[in-house]
Amino acid sequence: MSSSSFTSVSRRDFVKSAAAAALLSRSAWARASRVSASNRITLGVIGWGMMGPSNTKVFLEQDDCQVVAACDLDKNHLQAAVDTVNARYGNQDCKAYHDYHELLARDDIDAVMIAVPDHWHALVATEAANRKKDIYGEKPLARTIAEQQAIVRAAQKNSIIWQTGSWQRSLPTFHKAAEIVRNGLIGNVVRVEVGLPAGHHDFAGTEPALLAKLTTLPEKITDPSLIIPGTPAWNLAVSDPPPELDYDRWIGPSKMEQYIEARVHKNWRWNYNTGGGQLMDWIGHHGDIAHWGLGFDNTGPSEVEGLGEFPAPGALWNTATKYHVECLYRKEVTGYSSDVKMTIAGGSGAINMGTKWIGTDGWVWVDRSGFDASNQEWVKMDALPDDLRKIKLYESAEHRRNFLDCVKSRKPTITPVEVAHHSTIPGHLGLISMMVGRKLRWDVQEEKILDDSTACDLMTRSYRAPYQLA
Ligand SMILES: NC(=O)c1ccc[n+]([C@@H]2O[C@H](COP(=O)([O-])OP(=O)(O)OC[C@H]3O[C@@H](n4cnc5c(N)ncnc54)[C@H](O)[C@@H]3O)[C@@H](O)[C@H]2O)c1
Repeated sequence: MSSSSFTSVSRRDFVKSAAAAALLSRSAWARASRVSASNRITLGVIGWGMMGPSNTKVFLEQDDCQVVAACDLDKNHLQAAVDTVNARYGNQDCKAYHDYHELLARDDIDAVMIAVPDHWHALVATEAANRKKDIYGEKPLARTIAEQQAIVRAAQKNSIIWQTGSWQRSLPTFHKAAEIVRNGLIGNVVRVEVGLPAGHHDFAGTEPALLAKLTTLPEKITDPSLIIPGTPAWNLAVSDPPPELDYDRWIGPSKMEQYIEARVHKNWRWNYNTGGGQLMDWIGHHGDIAHWGLGFDNTGPSEVEGLGEFPAPGALWNTATKYHVECLYRKEVTGYSSDVKMTIAGGSGAINMGTKWIGTDGWVWVDRSGFDASNQEWVKMDALPDDLRKIKLYESAEHRRNFLDCVKSRKPTITPVEVAHHSTIPGHLGLISMMVGRKLRWDVQEEKILDDSTACDLMTRSYRAPYQLA
């Protein structure tokens, strides 16, 4: 029996039986002050780019968790993952995988952390759920609404525990803000402003080298969004993929495109073939917090209209540089006494980054950079006093820790899969509305765009053969 197989067998049994799961109380686990190897949650990490290491660092610090495997399509990233894990444990036990199917086929792995680019989320997550792995999965839930629905179905069918990487919910300022709103301290909420970044950000630092390649051209090109297919600049940008990266598989289910370094690692976000631009990169953060404060974790907008400014179609970085999305949450759907309007904007001078709820009696604004409110007493508080907390929102001191606790207790995490799905719907619909150029009507219960077959088609995307959902 391997060191982790007892954990896996125990957990697998609990997953199969809801009744048995209930017996495994959090306190029972907590009683084991030093967690034996056989009682640790065994974790595989899939995707070691920007977010994979951040998440894994926290998992490596937890006594009751053992990272046993890593997977990446880039050999250098994979080696870095394995080295990091082995250095932490002082052994050579972390197994390396190129193909996530092989990692997921291991029965002794209880849970996985998935931090691959958005165009891969659904394939990896549905397969992992069908393999009964508990999942810490990154935001946004997936690249399309249909993929998100598939993930939700797979997670529910297999009774897995899911935590989304919308970690702002585990920070005290966001919790305080959401509780103030939920407890009615600003009166009836009538309007919400969700401010997100605009433009593109060169996360990978690949833009300077790309632009340097273009200095020989007569035309001065200052931004990757100005590089258009078929032009001399484009031809200079294209290269062979580096030997360490399996680029064909990295593109995976998306349309095959020529390799251009500046839109692969980290910067895949700025290409609609693989990501969703700033809107979809951030909707699972500030949009998620907006929903939390409103109590809209299981509902959505009935009307969505998006306007955006885009680079030329097919440009190297082609996602919207500015966008403005208006969402209408109807009282008949939400149960509120009046409709709520939510504006999601990137590049609007009028809307600050973060989430601002505006009610009949005041307002609250929260962002990673701070907190402000119409009532300065709320600003001074660390948390809402207990006598004002008629509605107590879920508390989590650390987002990855919360996932592990829930893997043991079999209770929902602070951001389960359904929450991630609903939090990102306004972003998906806003993007589709921008693409078709008109307002959309959304059936919240049936999760369908009404009377617009072109927009409906954009709820899903075709996959490049042989890729398909598990
Ligand atoms: N929660 C947050 O604050 C936060 C922050 C950054 C990124 N993210 C999310 O994390 C995810 C990853 O983003 P990133 O910025 O780390 O991207 P990245 O490009 O830096 O890293 C992704 C890694 O996944 C690997 N990969 C791609 N396809 C794979 C596959 N099929 N199998 C195995 N490995 C594969 C890549 O080679 C790369 O090493 C995205 O969904 C992103 O939205 C979340």
